Amino acid sequence: MEFKEVVKNRFSCKKYSSRKLEAAKLEAILEAGRLAPTAKNLQEQHVYVVQSEEILTKIDAVTPCRYGAPVVLVVAFDKDNVFTYPGGKRDSGVEDATIVATHMILAAADEGVDSCWINFFDPDKMAEAIDLPENEEILMLLDLGYAAEGAGPLPNHSSRKPLAETVSYL
Ligand SMILES: Cc1cc2nc3c(=O)[nH]c(=O)nc-3n(C[C@H](O)[C@H](O)[C@H](O)COP(=O)(O)O)c2cc1C
Repeated sequence: MEFKEVVKNRFSCKKYSSRKLEAAKLEAILEAGRLAPTAKNLQEQHVYVVQSEEILTKIDAVTPCRYGAPVVLVVAFDKDNVFTYPGGKRDSGVEDATIVATHMILAAADEGVDSCWINFFDPDKMAEAIDLPENEEILMLLDLGYAAEGAGPLPNHSSRKPLAETVSYL
């Protein structure tokens, strides 16, 4: 798909059908995450693929936002392997994991797979649900699957500020 079409077609899917996600499509999505740039090429991301009913049920107990997706990617990063920027106030962990997640969400759209970025959860409870190692922090969850019949973009998908409000030419 043309990149512009990928960006345009992606929307947050909030109701999934029971259709399974094909392994090849999942691999393509994970590969796009693997190719993401990270600060100093540290690659501190850790992506957990959740497909088992057991762990999906645990996730459902922590967030209402799986919406029936058959696959959830939990994007985390190794807090002990981040790059701290000069000044010491910020490090690369959150942004590197965000770039990985963004590559994957766009790759999903390119594969015709629906998705939704999820942050509505208590990170400590989510860490417990997936038995996250102490040195890792969860950035987000990515629901993956196929929209249920009649489920499409919500009205806010087509509501974006004009560039004049968010861009300044200096
Ligand atoms: C950082 C981030 C966090 C989000 N968290 C949630 C969430 O927890 N639950 C949810 O249903 N949607 C969540 N969304 C989806 C947004 O609500 C959605 O992207 C936004 O309303 C624009 O709609 P669109 O993605 O269809 O264009 C999140 C999106 C982003 C980028």
